[in-house]
Amino acid sequence: MKKVEIICSVLEFHSIKELDLKDKLLVGKAKNAIKSAYSPYSKFQVGAAVLLKNGEIITGSNQENAAYPSGLCAERVALFYANSKFPEVPVSAIAICNFSAFKEIEKPISPCGACRQVLLETEIRFQNPIKVILVGQNKIQVINEVKQLLPLSFDSEFLL
Ligand code: THU
Repeated sequence: MKKVEIICSVLEFHSIKELDLKDKLLVGKAKNAIKSAYSPYSKFQVGAAVLLKNGEIITGSNQENAAYPSGLCAERVALFYANSKFPEVPVSAIAICNFSAFKEIEKPISPCGACRQVLLETEIRFQNPIKVILVGQNKIQVINEVKQLLPLSFDSEFLL
């Protein structure tokens, strides 16, 4: 038996001002996308902005449904739209922001497992690392590739 430690590298910033201009812009777009969230059930609004290698920015927000599992997270709304509109263009980065009607959430939003899986598929599909920018009130976390966020992942290697 041996114990294996898996390390996840995260860069932390105290303010959006510390980010470079491109990332700042992407965060601004994600914040703006919060407004279009449809979340009457959770009252938790999420905005995501996806930067493509051709410079296009695609945004999305969470879309809920009375039949709860039929809704979709902001990240997947944005990613699926980006991949269907520009199927040949790699994704370079995604910024994710949130707002809750119930409480102040200081820590950066953390994408759910299903969104991490979809992000990973996109990263592998285009063989291009995706920078993930998670925005909180007093902390921003930047992860330079999705692989870091989903260790021991299931991917196409098992199937193809
Ligand atoms: N949600 C997202 O859109 N992204 C996340 O990273 C976490 C959760 C949405 C799904 C649902 O509409 C609401 O937030 C509460 O779970």
